Amino acid sequence: MLEHGGRLLRAVRQYGIARECWLDLSSGIAPWAYPIPPIPVDAWARLPETEDGLEEAARRYYGTHQLLPVAGSQAAIQALPLLRPLGRVGVLTPCYAEHPHAWQRAGHQLIELDEAQVDGMLDSLDVLVLVNPNNPTGRRVPRERLLDWHARLAERGAWLVVDEAFIDNTPEHSVIDCAERAGLIVLRSFGKFFGLAGVRLGFVAAELALLQRLADLLGPWTVSGPTRVLAQASFADTLAHRLQIDRCAAASQRLAALLARTGLAPSGGCDLFQYVRSEQAAPLHDFLARRGILVRLFDQPSAVRLGLPASAADEQRLAQALTDYHKESA
Ligand SMILES: Cc1ncc(COP(=O)(O)O)c(C=O)c1O
Repeated sequence: MLEHGGRLLRAVRQYGIARECWLDLSSGIAPWAYPIPPIPVDAWARLPETEDGLEEAARRYYGTHQLLPVAGSQAAIQALPLLRPLGRVGVLTPCYAEHPHAWQRAGHQLIELDEAQVDGMLDSLDVLVLVNPNNPTGRRVPRERLLDWHARLAERGAWLVVDEAFIDNTPEHSVIDCAERAGLIVLRSFGKFFGLAGVRLGFVAAELALLQRLADLLGPWTVSGPTRVLAQASFADTLAHRLQIDRCAAASQRLAALLARTGLAPSGGCDLFQYVRSEQAAPLHDFLARRGILVRLFDQPSAVRLGLPASAADEQRLAQALTDYHKESA
């Protein structure tokens, strides 16, 4: 299993600090969870049925006609490599490590690329995979470039897989409205923007034939009844979408400014996290953890990623710790 953020209980054991004392900034999940609506007993008691309103609500929210709900976009990340003959798969790295891992584990030839290399390599790839905006670097590939890459790949029956797990805050950059085009596969994650990662819900938008093969592979009832009810309520609450977008953007800007003030100017980020490359990432991670603040550490390249503090008090606590670190490391 690969390393991920959000492993608070391990930090509790490792640093001997009680769970309730931690400020967990180790994931890129919005720290304000959408309200949970009343869940009818039927949603728990009966097997979930498709077309109960969830697919329709998701089509409206995402602005696409063809999509498949899955138990977190992670389920699709693992399944997609099984739906193609073995081939050459380019992945823009560093990115969410489950992508390269899944293609390689299925037996495909993995080619790690940076954005500047794509144009030169594109015609030799069977699949190009990228995360947009990228986790953890925050790099964003413009929509026009993605659609151009897709057109070139599609001429040969090759795929472009765009993981848009962090794009709900800036939906104007999404390519999901084009996902009916053959060979364009768009992944969306419900948990991050709505702050409800525990419900395990994601969506795949793509041409119908591919979605049917994916649905066959994943089997029936992948998304639970309570999740289906809760997600419909979240999609329908359009006023709350605006509020979530605005407060994430403001918190992310404040976080970037705070990091810059303490000598840790972010090298990238998006409205759900900031990313700081530093040779001192490991000592910084440890310094913060000893004060009960958990951030995500990366070693290749050496970096930390910080999610959004939920309140002024959390921000103040982080600011104090970073100021102390800045003084001690000066
Ligand atoms: C870029 C990216 N894609 C996909 C996922 C999987 O998310 P989920 O399965 O909750 O949709 C993650 C989880 O952190 C992620 O960072």
